[in-house]
Amino acid sequence: MSTLPLRDPTLLETRALINGEWVGSAGTYVVSNPATGQVIAQVAAMDIDHAKGAIDAAHAAQPNWAAMTGKERAAILRRLHDLMVANADDLAMILTAEMGKPLAEAKGEVLYGAAYVEWFAEEAKRIYGDVIPGHARNSRIMVLKQPVGVVGAITPWNFPNAMLARKLAPALAAGCTMVARPSEQTPLSALAIGVLACRAGVPAGVLNILPNRRASEFGQLLCSHPKVAKITFTGSTRVGAILMEQGARTIKKFSLELGGNAPFLVFDDADPEAAAEGALLAKFRNNGQTCVCANRFYVQSGIHDAFVAALARHMSNLKVGDGLREGVTTGPLINQAAVEKVETHVSDALAKGARLTIGGARHPLGGTFYEPTLMTGVTQDMQVARDETFGPLAAVIRFDTEQEAIAMANDTEFGLAGYFYASDLSRVWRVAEALEVGIVGVNTGLVSTEVAPFGGVKQSGMGREGSRYGIDDYLEIKNVVIGLAAR
Ligand code: SIN
Repeated sequence: MSTLPLRDPTLLETRALINGEWVGSAGTYVVSNPATGQVIAQVAAMDIDHAKGAIDAAHAAQPNWAAMTGKERAAILRRLHDLMVANADDLAMILTAEMGKPLAEAKGEVLYGAAYVEWFAEEAKRIYGDVIPGHARNSRIMVLKQPVGVVGAITPWNFPNAMLARKLAPALAAGCTMVARPSEQTPLSALAIGVLACRAGVPAGVLNILPNRRASEFGQLLCSHPKVAKITFTGSTRVGAILMEQGARTIKKFSLELGGNAPFLVFDDADPEAAAEGALLAKFRNNGQTCVCANRFYVQSGIHDAFVAALARHMSNLKVGDGLREGVTTGPLINQAAVEKVETHVSDALAKGARLTIGGARHPLGGTFYEPTLMTGVTQDMQVARDETFGPLAAVIRFDTEQEAIAMANDTEFGLAGYFYASDLSRVWRVAEALEVGIVGVNTGLVSTEVAPFGGVKQSGMGREGSRYGIDDYLEIKNVVIGLAAR
Protein backbone atom coordinates (compact mmCIF):
# COMPACT_ATOMS: atom_id res chain seq x y z
CA MET A 1 0.00 0.00 0.00
CA SER A 2 1.49 3.38 -0.95
CA THR A 3 1.10 6.23 1.54
CA LEU A 4 0.16 9.54 0.00
CA PRO A 5 2.06 12.56 1.36
CA LEU A 6 -1.04 14.48 2.44
CA ARG A 7 -0.99 17.50 4.72
CA ASP A 8 -4.27 16.26 6.13
CA PRO A 9 -4.33 12.44 6.03
CA THR A 10 -7.93 12.38 7.29
CA LEU A 11 -9.01 13.44 3.79
CA LEU A 12 -8.19 9.93 2.61
CA GLU A 13 -11.51 8.51 3.77
CA THR A 14 -12.38 4.96 2.70
CA ARG A 15 -15.81 4.50 4.27
CA ALA A 16 -19.22 5.58 3.04
CA LEU A 17 -20.98 8.74 4.18
CA ILE A 18 -24.54 7.83 5.14
CA ASN A 19 -26.80 10.07 7.19
CA GLY A 20 -23.86 12.08 8.50
CA GLU A 21 -21.94 8.99 9.71
CA TRP A 22 -18.88 7.30 8.25
CA VAL A 23 -19.92 3.70 7.73
CA GLY A 24 -17.68 0.74 6.94
CA SER A 25 -18.68 -2.56 5.43
CA ALA A 26 -17.75 -6.21 5.78
CA GLY A 27 -16.19 -6.27 2.32
CA THR A 28 -13.63 -3.91 0.85
CA TYR A 29 -12.02 -3.47 -2.55
CA VAL A 30 -8.73 -2.12 -3.79
CA VAL A 31 -8.28 1.27 -5.41
CA SER A 32 -4.94 1.52 -7.17
CA ASN A 33 -2.87 4.07 -9.05
CA PRO A 34 -3.21 3.52 -12.82
CA ALA A 35 0.32 4.90 -13.38
CA THR A 36 2.09 2.46 -11.06
CA GLY A 37 -0.41 -0.23 -10.16
CA GLN A 38 0.30 0.52 -6.48
CA VAL A 39 -2.55 0.06 -4.03
CA ILE A 40 -3.73 3.39 -2.62
CA ALA A 41 -6.52 2.21 -0.35
CA GLN A 42 -8.93 -0.56 0.60
CA VAL A 43 -12.33 1.03 0.19
CA ALA A 44 -15.61 -0.06 1.76
CA ALA A 45 -17.73 -2.03 -0.71
CA MET A 46 -21.23 -0.90 0.17
CA ASP A 47 -24.21 -3.04 -0.68
CA ILE A 48 -27.78 -2.41 -1.72
CA ASP A 49 -29.14 -2.29 1.84
CA HIS A 50 -26.71 0.53 2.60
CA ALA A 51 -27.98 2.33 -0.48
CA LYS A 52 -31.59 1.91 0.64
CA GLY A 53 -30.66 3.33 4.05
CA ALA A 54 -28.96 6.29 2.36
CA ILE A 55 -32.06 6.98 0.25
CA ASP A 56 -34.25 6.91 3.37
CA ALA A 57 -31.85 9.29 5.12
CA ALA A 58 -31.78 11.67 2.16
CA HIS A 59 -35.56 11.58 1.96
CA ALA A 60 -35.95 12.30 5.68
CA ALA A 61 -33.43 15.14 5.59
CA GLN A 62 -34.84 16.88 2.53
CA PRO A 63 -37.76 18.88 4.02
CA ASN A 64 -35.59 20.55 6.68
CA TRP A 65 -32.83 21.29 4.21
CA ALA A 66 -35.35 22.79 1.78
CA ALA A 67 -36.92 24.81 4.61
CA MET A 68 -33.64 26.63 5.24
CA THR A 69 -33.32 29.98 3.51
CA GLY A 70 -31.27 30.18 0.35
CA LYS A 71 -28.84 32.32 2.29
CA GLU A 72 -28.36 29.63 4.93
CA ARG A 73 -27.72 26.93 2.34
CA ALA A 74 -25.42 29.34 0.50
CA ALA A 75 -23.31 29.88 3.62
CA ILE A 76 -22.72 26.12 3.97
CA LEU A 77 -21.86 25.70 0.29
CA ARG A 78 -19.57 28.70 0.46
CA ARG A 79 -17.72 27.08 3.36
CA LEU A 80 -17.43 23.87 1.31
CA HIS A 81 -15.95 25.89 -1.55
CA ASP A 82 -13.44 27.54 0.77
CA LEU A 83 -12.44 24.18 2.24
CA MET A 84 -11.97 22.68 -1.22
CA VAL A 85 -9.70 25.56 -2.19
CA ALA A 86 -7.77 25.45 1.11
CA ASN A 87 -7.23 21.69 0.68
CA ALA A 88 -6.68 21.77 -3.09
CA ASP A 89 -3.17 20.32 -2.91
CA ASP A 90 -4.30 17.28 -0.94
CA LEU A 91 -7.41 16.80 -3.07
CA ALA A 92 -5.24 16.97 -6.19
CA MET A 93 -2.81 14.41 -4.76
CA ILE A 94 -5.66 11.99 -4.06
CA LEU A 95 -7.12 12.61 -7.51
CA THR A 96 -3.86 12.01 -9.36
CA ALA A 97 -3.15 8.90 -7.35
CA GLU A 98 -6.49 7.26 -8.14
CA MET A 99 -7.04 8.57 -11.67
CA GLY A 100 -3.63 9.32 -13.17
CA LYS A 101 -3.92 12.86 -14.52
CA PRO A 102 -0.88 15.06 -13.82
CA LEU A 103 -0.86 16.85 -10.48
CA ALA A 104 -1.16 20.36 -11.96
CA GLU A 105 -4.13 19.27 -14.03
CA ALA A 106 -5.66 17.56 -10.99
CA LYS A 107 -5.36 20.78 -9.01
CA GLY A 108 -7.01 22.57 -11.92
CA GLU A 109 -9.86 20.08 -11.71
CA VAL A 110 -10.25 20.61 -7.96
CA LEU A 111 -10.46 24.38 -8.43
CA TYR A 112 -12.85 23.86 -11.35
CA GLY A 113 -15.06 21.71 -9.08
CA ALA A 114 -14.85 24.28 -6.28
CA ALA A 115 -15.88 27.00 -8.74
CA TYR A 116 -19.20 25.19 -9.31
CA VAL A 117 -19.76 25.07 -5.56
CA GLU A 118 -19.07 28.79 -5.29
CA TRP A 119 -21.28 29.56 -8.28
CA PHE A 120 -24.27 27.64 -6.96
CA ALA A 121 -23.79 28.95 -3.43
CA GLU A 122 -24.48 32.32 -4.98
CA GLU A 123 -27.40 31.02 -7.04
CA ALA A 124 -29.06 29.52 -3.93
CA LYS A 125 -30.12 33.07 -3.04
CA ARG A 126 -31.59 33.78 -6.47
CA ILE A 127 -34.17 31.07 -7.01
CA TYR A 128 -36.81 33.52 -8.12
CA GLY A 129 -40.39 32.67 -8.92
CA ASP A 130 -42.73 34.80 -10.95
CA VAL A 131 -46.05 36.63 -10.80
CA ILE A 132 -48.37 36.29 -13.78
CA PRO A 133 -51.34 38.61 -14.36
CA GLY A 134 -54.49 36.63 -13.58
CA HIS A 135 -56.61 35.08 -16.29
CA ALA A 136 -59.75 36.53 -14.68
CA ARG A 137 -60.40 39.80 -12.83
CA ASN A 138 -60.49 38.06 -9.48
CA SER A 139 -57.43 35.87 -9.95
CA ARG A 140 -53.70 36.17 -9.61
CA ILE A 141 -51.12 33.56 -10.52
CA MET A 142 -47.78 32.88 -8.89
CA VAL A 143 -44.99 30.61 -10.01
CA LEU A 144 -42.95 29.00 -7.25
CA LYS A 145 -39.72 27.12 -7.81
CA GLN A 146 -39.21 24.23 -5.43
CA PRO A 147 -36.58 21.51 -5.08
CA VAL A 148 -37.30 18.27 -6.94
CA GLY A 149 -36.45 16.17 -3.86
CA VAL A 150 -33.88 13.38 -3.50
CA VAL A 151 -31.34 13.21 -6.32
CA GLY A 152 -29.38 10.10 -7.27
CA ALA A 153 -25.97 11.07 -8.68
CA ILE A 154 -23.80 8.68 -10.67
CA THR A 155 -20.40 10.13 -11.44
CA PRO A 156 -17.50 9.05 -13.69
CA TRP A 157 -13.81 8.36 -13.18
CA ASN A 158 -12.44 10.97 -15.58
CA PHE A 159 -13.28 13.96 -13.35
CA PRO A 160 -13.75 12.31 -9.94
CA ASN A 161 -13.89 15.63 -8.11
CA ALA A 162 -15.47 18.13 -10.49
CA MET A 163 -18.29 15.93 -11.78
CA LEU A 164 -19.57 15.30 -8.26
CA ALA A 165 -19.05 18.95 -7.30
CA ARG A 166 -21.03 20.24 -10.24
CA LYS A 167 -23.92 17.94 -9.45
CA LEU A 168 -24.08 18.33 -5.69
CA ALA A 169 -23.69 22.12 -5.79
CA PRO A 170 -26.86 22.96 -7.77
CA ALA A 171 -28.78 20.13 -6.08
CA LEU A 172 -27.97 21.29 -2.56
CA ALA A 173 -28.37 24.95 -3.47
CA ALA A 174 -31.87 24.20 -4.74
CA GLY A 175 -32.82 22.41 -1.50
CA CYS A 176 -32.48 18.84 -2.80
CA THR A 177 -30.60 16.09 -1.00
CA MET A 178 -28.34 13.57 -2.68
CA VAL A 179 -27.24 9.94 -2.76
CA ALA A 180 -24.08 9.69 -4.83
CA ARG A 181 -22.45 6.67 -6.40
CA PRO A 182 -18.90 7.59 -7.48
CA SER A 183 -17.08 5.48 -10.05
CA GLU A 184 -15.63 2.41 -8.36
CA GLN A 185 -12.23 3.23 -9.89
CA THR A 186 -12.09 6.69 -8.28
CA PRO A 187 -14.16 6.88 -5.09
CA LEU A 188 -11.53 8.63 -2.96
CA SER A 189 -11.95 12.12 -4.43
CA ALA A 190 -15.70 11.92 -3.85
CA LEU A 191 -15.25 10.71 -0.27
CA ALA A 192 -12.77 13.55 0.40
CA ILE A 193 -15.45 16.01 -0.74
CA GLY A 194 -17.75 14.25 1.73
CA VAL A 195 -15.25 14.87 4.55
CA LEU A 196 -15.14 18.55 3.67
CA ALA A 197 -18.93 18.76 3.30
CA CYS A 198 -19.30 17.49 6.88
CA ARG A 199 -16.77 20.08 8.07
CA ALA A 200 -18.65 22.78 6.17
CA GLY A 201 -21.82 21.94 8.10
CA VAL A 202 -23.85 20.02 5.52
CA PRO A 203 -26.48 18.40 7.78
CA ALA A 204 -26.77 14.64 8.23
CA GLY A 205 -28.54 12.92 5.36
CA VAL A 206 -28.24 15.82 2.92
CA LEU A 207 -25.23 14.35 1.13
CA ASN A 208 -24.62 10.59 1.10
CA ILE A 209 -21.70 9.04 -0.79
CA LEU A 210 -21.43 5.28 -1.24
CA PRO A 211 -18.40 3.63 -2.81
CA ASN A 212 -19.24 0.22 -4.23
CA ARG A 213 -18.57 -2.24 -7.00
CA ARG A 214 -22.20 -2.81 -7.92
CA ALA A 215 -22.74 -0.23 -10.63
CA SER A 216 -25.73 -1.86 -12.26
CA GLU A 217 -27.52 -2.73 -9.00
CA PHE A 218 -27.01 0.77 -7.61
CA GLY A 219 -28.16 2.33 -10.87
CA GLN A 220 -31.24 0.13 -10.92
CA LEU A 221 -32.09 0.98 -7.30
CA LEU A 222 -31.66 4.73 -7.71
CA CYS A 223 -33.68 4.73 -10.93
CA SER A 224 -36.56 2.66 -9.58
CA HIS A 225 -36.81 3.84 -5.96
CA PRO A 226 -39.99 5.87 -5.36
CA LYS A 227 -38.22 8.20 -2.91
CA VAL A 228 -35.67 9.29 -5.55
CA ALA A 229 -37.06 12.06 -7.74
CA LYS A 230 -34.24 12.60 -10.14
CA ILE A 231 -31.09 11.05 -11.58
CA THR A 232 -28.06 13.02 -12.63
CA PHE A 233 -25.53 10.97 -14.55
CA THR A 234 -22.30 11.57 -16.43
CA GLY A 235 -21.10 8.65 -18.50
CA SER A 236 -21.73 6.76 -21.69
CA THR A 237 -24.79 7.05 -23.91
CA ARG A 238 -25.28 3.30 -23.60
CA VAL A 239 -25.59 3.43 -19.81
CA GLY A 240 -27.63 6.64 -19.94
CA ALA A 241 -30.21 4.86 -22.09
CA ILE A 242 -30.37 1.93 -19.64
CA LEU A 243 -30.90 4.30 -16.72
CA MET A 244 -33.71 6.07 -18.58
CA GLU A 245 -35.42 2.76 -19.20
CA GLN A 246 -35.08 1.84 -15.53
CA GLY A 247 -36.44 5.22 -14.46
CA ALA A 248 -39.45 5.10 -16.76
CA ARG A 249 -41.80 3.31 -14.35
CA THR A 250 -41.40 5.94 -11.63
CA ILE A 251 -41.15 8.83 -14.13
CA LYS A 252 -37.74 9.98 -12.96
CA LYS A 253 -36.38 13.31 -14.06
CA PHE A 254 -33.00 13.05 -15.75
CA SER A 255 -29.94 15.18 -16.31
CA LEU A 256 -27.66 13.19 -18.58
CA GLU A 257 -24.22 14.22 -19.72
CA LEU A 258 -23.35 11.44 -22.14
CA GLY A 259 -20.87 10.53 -24.84
CA GLY A 260 -19.48 12.94 -27.39
CA ASN A 261 -17.66 12.78 -30.71
CA ALA A 262 -16.50 16.36 -30.93
CA PRO A 263 -15.53 17.74 -34.33
CA PHE A 264 -12.74 20.33 -34.52
CA LEU A 265 -12.80 22.31 -37.78
CA VAL A 266 -9.90 24.39 -39.05
CA PHE A 267 -10.74 26.69 -41.96
CA ASP A 268 -8.31 28.24 -44.42
CA ASP A 269 -8.83 31.68 -42.85
CA ALA A 270 -7.64 30.47 -39.41
CA ASP A 271 -4.23 31.05 -37.86
CA PRO A 272 -2.64 27.55 -38.02
CA GLU A 273 -0.47 28.16 -34.97
CA ALA A 274 -3.41 29.27 -32.79
CA ALA A 275 -5.51 26.39 -34.13
CA ALA A 276 -2.79 23.88 -33.22
CA GLU A 277 -2.54 25.30 -29.70
CA GLY A 278 -6.32 25.03 -29.31
CA ALA A 279 -6.24 21.53 -30.78
CA LEU A 280 -3.64 20.42 -28.26
CA LEU A 281 -5.86 21.58 -25.42
CA ALA A 282 -9.08 20.23 -26.89
CA LYS A 283 -7.57 16.84 -27.67
CA PHE A 284 -4.97 16.12 -24.99
CA ARG A 285 -6.56 17.57 -21.86
CA ASN A 286 -6.85 14.63 -19.46
CA ASN A 287 -5.02 12.54 -22.07
CA GLY A 288 -8.04 12.62 -24.37
CA GLN A 289 -10.36 11.31 -21.66
CA THR A 290 -13.01 14.02 -21.51
CA CYS A 291 -16.45 13.95 -23.08
CA VAL A 292 -15.68 17.25 -24.79
CA CYS A 293 -12.31 16.16 -26.19
CA ALA A 294 -11.92 16.83 -29.91
CA ASN A 295 -12.24 13.46 -31.64
CA ARG A 296 -12.21 14.38 -35.35
CA PHE A 297 -10.09 17.15 -36.87
CA TYR A 298 -11.54 18.47 -40.16
CA VAL A 299 -8.89 20.64 -41.79
CA GLN A 300 -9.35 22.64 -45.01
CA SER A 301 -6.89 21.84 -47.81
CA GLY A 302 -5.20 25.27 -47.88
CA ILE A 303 -4.15 25.13 -44.22
CA HIS A 304 -3.88 21.36 -43.80
CA ASP A 305 -0.10 20.92 -43.95
CA ALA A 306 0.70 24.00 -41.83
CA PHE A 307 -1.80 22.90 -39.15
CA VAL A 308 -0.56 19.30 -39.06
CA ALA A 309 3.07 20.46 -38.78
CA ALA A 310 2.22 22.87 -35.94
CA LEU A 311 0.18 20.27 -34.06
CA ALA A 312 2.93 17.65 -34.43
CA ARG A 313 5.44 20.15 -33.04
CA HIS A 314 3.25 20.91 -30.02
CA MET A 315 2.57 17.23 -29.44
CA SER A 316 6.25 16.39 -29.40
CA ASN A 317 6.54 18.54 -26.25
CA LEU A 318 4.06 16.37 -24.33
CA LYS A 319 5.77 14.48 -21.55
CA VAL A 320 4.14 11.15 -20.78
CA GLY A 321 4.53 9.62 -17.32
CA ASP A 322 3.34 9.20 -13.76
CA GLY A 323 1.21 12.25 -12.98
CA LEU A 324 2.88 12.62 -9.59
CA ARG A 325 6.24 13.31 -11.28
CA GLU A 326 7.42 16.84 -11.98
CA GLY A 327 6.98 18.06 -15.56
CA VAL A 328 4.65 15.28 -16.70
CA THR A 329 1.86 16.63 -18.95
CA THR A 330 0.19 13.38 -19.94
CA GLY A 331 -0.68 10.53 -17.62
CA PRO A 332 -1.72 6.94 -18.23
CA LEU A 333 -5.06 5.82 -19.60
CA ILE A 334 -7.50 4.59 -16.99
CA ASN A 335 -7.22 0.87 -17.80
CA GLN A 336 -6.25 -1.75 -20.39
CA ALA A 337 -9.65 -1.57 -22.09
CA ALA A 338 -9.00 2.11 -22.78
CA VAL A 339 -5.61 1.29 -24.33
CA GLU A 340 -7.19 -1.41 -26.48
CA LYS A 341 -9.76 1.03 -27.79
CA VAL A 342 -7.05 3.44 -28.96
CA GLU A 343 -5.18 0.53 -30.55
CA THR A 344 -8.31 -0.58 -32.38
CA HIS A 345 -8.95 2.91 -33.75
CA VAL A 346 -5.34 3.23 -34.89
CA SER A 347 -5.17 -0.17 -36.58
CA ASP A 348 -8.58 0.27 -38.24
CA ALA A 349 -7.52 3.66 -39.63
CA LEU A 350 -4.16 2.32 -40.85
CA ALA A 351 -5.84 -0.64 -42.52
CA LYS A 352 -8.18 1.75 -44.35
CA GLY A 353 -5.38 4.00 -45.63
CA ALA A 354 -4.63 6.59 -42.91
CA ARG A 355 -0.99 7.56 -42.21
CA LEU A 356 0.83 8.04 -38.93
CA THR A 357 2.57 11.38 -38.38
CA ILE A 358 3.69 10.67 -34.84
CA GLY A 359 3.00 8.01 -32.21
CA GLY A 360 0.80 5.01 -32.96
CA ALA A 361 1.95 2.54 -30.29
CA ARG A 362 1.93 1.74 -26.61
CA HIS A 363 4.40 3.93 -24.74
CA PRO A 364 7.74 2.37 -23.66
CA LEU A 365 6.67 3.02 -20.04
CA GLY A 366 4.26 0.09 -20.44
CA GLY A 367 1.16 -0.33 -18.29
CA THR A 368 -1.65 1.83 -19.65
CA PHE A 369 0.59 4.49 -21.17
CA TYR A 370 0.02 5.21 -24.87
CA GLU A 371 1.98 7.54 -27.16
CA PRO A 372 0.31 10.80 -28.18
CA THR A 373 -0.63 9.98 -31.76
CA LEU A 374 -1.37 12.05 -34.85
CA MET A 375 -2.84 10.54 -38.03
CA THR A 376 -3.67 12.11 -41.37
CA GLY A 377 -5.57 10.80 -44.36
CA VAL A 378 -8.45 9.79 -42.08
CA THR A 379 -11.90 9.35 -43.66
CA GLN A 380 -15.48 9.36 -42.40
CA ASP A 381 -15.84 5.57 -42.64
CA MET A 382 -13.05 4.84 -40.15
CA GLN A 383 -13.94 3.87 -36.58
CA VAL A 384 -12.18 6.89 -35.15
CA ALA A 385 -14.58 9.19 -37.03
CA ARG A 386 -17.68 7.35 -35.79
CA ASP A 387 -16.80 6.52 -32.20
CA GLU A 388 -15.24 8.56 -29.40
CA THR A 389 -11.65 7.30 -28.89
CA PHE A 390 -11.33 8.65 -25.31
CA GLY A 391 -7.56 8.56 -25.66
CA PRO A 392 -4.57 10.41 -27.11
CA LEU A 393 -5.31 10.01 -30.82
CA ALA A 394 -5.72 13.07 -33.07
CA ALA A 395 -7.26 12.02 -36.39
CA VAL A 396 -7.13 14.53 -39.29
CA ILE A 397 -9.64 14.52 -42.14
CA ARG A 398 -8.98 16.88 -45.07
CA PHE A 399 -11.88 18.87 -46.60
CA ASP A 400 -12.43 21.44 -49.32
CA THR A 401 -15.68 23.32 -48.68
CA GLU A 402 -17.46 24.67 -45.63
CA GLN A 403 -20.66 22.77 -46.49
CA GLU A 404 -18.75 19.51 -46.77
CA ALA A 405 -17.08 20.08 -43.38
CA ILE A 406 -20.35 20.90 -41.61
CA ALA A 407 -22.07 17.89 -43.13
CA MET A 408 -19.28 15.58 -41.92
CA ALA A 409 -19.13 17.25 -38.49
CA ASN A 410 -22.87 16.72 -37.99
CA ASP A 411 -22.86 13.18 -39.34
CA THR A 412 -23.01 11.56 -35.90
CA GLU A 413 -25.64 10.69 -33.32
CA PHE A 414 -23.66 12.68 -30.73
CA GLY A 415 -23.84 16.41 -30.09
CA LEU A 416 -21.91 17.50 -27.00
CA ALA A 417 -19.09 19.87 -28.03
CA GLY A 418 -17.71 21.18 -31.32
CA TYR A 419 -14.81 23.52 -32.06
CA PHE A 420 -13.69 25.56 -35.02
CA TYR A 421 -11.03 28.05 -35.96
CA ALA A 422 -11.85 30.76 -38.51
CA SER A 423 -11.49 34.53 -38.78
CA ASP A 424 -14.25 35.53 -41.20
CA LEU A 425 -17.07 36.90 -39.04
CA SER A 426 -19.86 35.67 -41.29
CA ARG A 427 -18.38 32.19 -41.30
CA VAL A 428 -18.05 32.28 -37.50
CA TRP A 429 -21.79 32.90 -37.17
CA ARG A 430 -22.74 30.43 -39.89
CA VAL A 431 -20.70 27.57 -38.50
CA ALA A 432 -21.55 28.25 -34.83
CA GLU A 433 -25.23 28.07 -35.74
CA ALA A 434 -24.89 25.05 -38.02
CA LEU A 435 -23.01 22.71 -35.69
CA GLU A 436 -25.43 20.31 -33.99
CA VAL A 437 -23.91 20.45 -30.52
CA GLY A 438 -24.67 21.95 -27.12
CA ILE A 439 -21.29 23.66 -26.71
CA VAL A 440 -19.23 25.43 -29.39
CA GLY A 441 -15.66 26.64 -28.98
CA VAL A 442 -14.79 29.32 -31.57
CA ASN A 443 -11.07 29.99 -31.79
CA THR A 444 -10.56 28.28 -28.45
CA GLY A 445 -9.93 24.72 -27.38
CA LEU A 446 -11.30 25.12 -23.86
CA VAL A 447 -15.04 25.45 -23.32
CA SER A 448 -15.47 24.27 -19.74
CA THR A 449 -16.32 26.83 -17.09
CA GLU A 450 -18.84 27.02 -14.28
CA VAL A 451 -20.30 30.25 -15.67
CA ALA A 452 -21.49 28.68 -18.96
CA PRO A 453 -24.06 25.94 -19.62
CA PHE A 454 -22.51 22.53 -20.17
CA GLY A 455 -24.53 19.82 -21.88
CA GLY A 456 -25.37 18.17 -25.14
CA VAL A 457 -28.00 17.66 -27.82
CA LYS A 458 -28.91 14.51 -29.78
CA GLN A 459 -27.68 11.37 -27.99
CA SER A 460 -25.19 13.35 -25.90
CA GLY A 461 -27.84 13.90 -23.29
CA MET A 462 -30.20 16.39 -21.74
CA GLY A 463 -30.07 19.15 -19.17
CA ARG A 464 -27.34 21.68 -18.46
CA GLU A 465 -24.74 21.90 -15.73
CA GLY A 466 -23.23 25.19 -14.58
CA SER A 467 -24.35 28.75 -15.31
CA ARG A 468 -27.64 30.31 -14.23
CA TYR A 469 -29.44 27.60 -16.22
CA GLY A 470 -27.87 24.76 -14.21
CA ILE A 471 -30.06 25.11 -11.14
CA ASP A 472 -33.27 24.71 -13.17
CA ASP A 473 -32.54 20.99 -13.53
CA TYR A 474 -33.07 20.62 -9.77
CA LEU A 475 -36.24 22.68 -9.48
CA GLU A 476 -39.90 22.07 -10.08
CA ILE A 477 -42.20 24.82 -11.21
CA LYS A 478 -45.40 25.13 -9.22
CA ASN A 479 -48.33 27.19 -10.48
CA VAL A 480 -50.35 28.80 -7.67
CA VAL A 481 -53.63 30.28 -8.88
CA ILE A 482 -55.19 32.61 -6.31
CA GLY A 483 -58.86 33.50 -6.38
CA LEU A 484 -59.60 36.88 -4.82
CA ALA A 485 -62.82 37.66 -2.99
CA ALA A 486 -65.07 40.04 -4.90
CA ARG A 487 -65.11 43.53 -3.35
C1 SIN B 1 -16.56 15.41 -18.95
O1 SIN B 1 -15.70 14.89 -19.61
O2 SIN B 1 -17.58 14.79 -18.66
C2 SIN B 1 -16.45 16.82 -18.40
C3 SIN B 1 -15.45 17.63 -19.05
C4 SIN B 1 -15.44 19.05 -18.63
O3 SIN B 1 -16.15 19.47 -17.72
O4 SIN B 1 -14.70 19.78 -19.26
